[in-house]
Amino acid sequence: MGTDSAPEAPVRRSISPYGEHQPGIAGPTPKHAELVALKLRSGVDKAGLGRLMRLWSGDVVALAEGRPAPGDTAPELAVANVALTTTIGFGPRVFQLTGHKPPGLDDLPVMKHDRLDPAWSGGDLLVMVGADDAVSVVHAVRRLVADAKPFASPLWRQTGFWNSTGADGRPVTGRNLFGQVDGTGNPAVGTPELDRTVWSSDGPDWFHGGTTLVVRRIRMNLDTWDELTRSEQERAVGRKLSTGAPLTGTAEHDELDLQARDADGRLVIAENSHARLSHHSENDGRRIFRKGLNYVQDNGPTRESGLIFLSHQADVAGQFLPLLARLDAADALNEWTTTIGSAVFALPPGFQPGSWLAHKLLG
Ligand code: HEM
Repeated sequence: MGTDSAPEAPVRRSISPYGEHQPGIAGPTPKHAELVALKLRSGVDKAGLGRLMRLWSGDVVALAEGRPAPGDTAPELAVANVALTTTIGFGPRVFQLTGHKPPGLDDLPVMKHDRLDPAWSGGDLLVMVGADDAVSVVHAVRRLVADAKPFASPLWRQTGFWNSTGADGRPVTGRNLFGQVDGTGNPAVGTPELDRTVWSSDGPDWFHGGTTLVVRRIRMNLDTWDELTRSEQERAVGRKLSTGAPLTGTAEHDELDLQARDADGRLVIAENSHARLSHHSENDGRRIFRKGLNYVQDNGPTRESGLIFLSHQADVAGQFLPLLARLDAADALNEWTTTIGSAVFALPPGFQPGSWLAHKLLG
């Protein structure tokens, strides 16, 4: 048969479910992901929530290791080496049961451009599963939602996808459905900047090493976006479509020159461009750690497209909200984007073998 039929070198991997932080957070954006928000059933108290977290922690470990969790009705679907991670979070209302709410963890105020649909908003619990393979994601979510049944029922589900592998197999930043390179300005994983941005170190003791997550479902009008010229599209963001480089640079990670002007005296990175308005230097140094998942939703012959915008920060009110308000007031992109869902969650720190998620809050 020759070398053509030789099996490819294994490139798949497992991600440990244990650690200081929940492992899906600072890793790359998953290829396939599903988010489920659940509503607690009436009568579920702090002890009940603790039982669910023990149960889910066992599931999280089994699923990451590719083993069927107890009671799995489709055990053959539990496979290893698909980079599966599960991330669990608590919505603001949970802290009415438990106390010790992370400061600033409240539903976001409605912005002028928001058109929020309750069908995509809020939630008491969040489960997010990401993996290299959509079958594994669907299987894991099915298991976790089934085990939650006595305690909570699904409120909304969102499915998204992202490609952060280039044609040559190397990691790349990835693109949203406008075609833009999206994620460049993030603090780099493994740096003190990322640690400062994402992980909570003040606030309640149980939450040290945790983070918050904002989930915004943002519809993108591809029809009107496609009517723009390429240079109009690039001006709206302030970066090039080809490489993601700032309009004042040549490579993706070049610093933005926010003072540069063209021959007519106009700012090269426009006053209302998304990259300028969201840049930390224009926001008193405030930073967030973003991940996007592209989504499409089909309804017969019509398709809606958009971004499941995910933002991690230690403090929603201190870091995310001022940035959101600024973009809502002036961002050029507002013409083609509409936020239709919004939710916030506290993501507890990770856990070690023999322990379980949020045991310091619920134990
Ligand atoms: C569908 C909606 C959105 C699209 C298409 C979008 C797209 C982009 C693109 C293309 C960039 C430049 C590349 C990069 O640094 O990643 C960017 C940067 C950024 N965006 Fe967005 N974005 C959206 C919504 C938001 C929202 C809602 C926020 C926060 C409230 C936000 C915050 C940021 C930040 C902080 C940066 C990095 C700025 C820096 O260089 O420091 N974006 N976005």
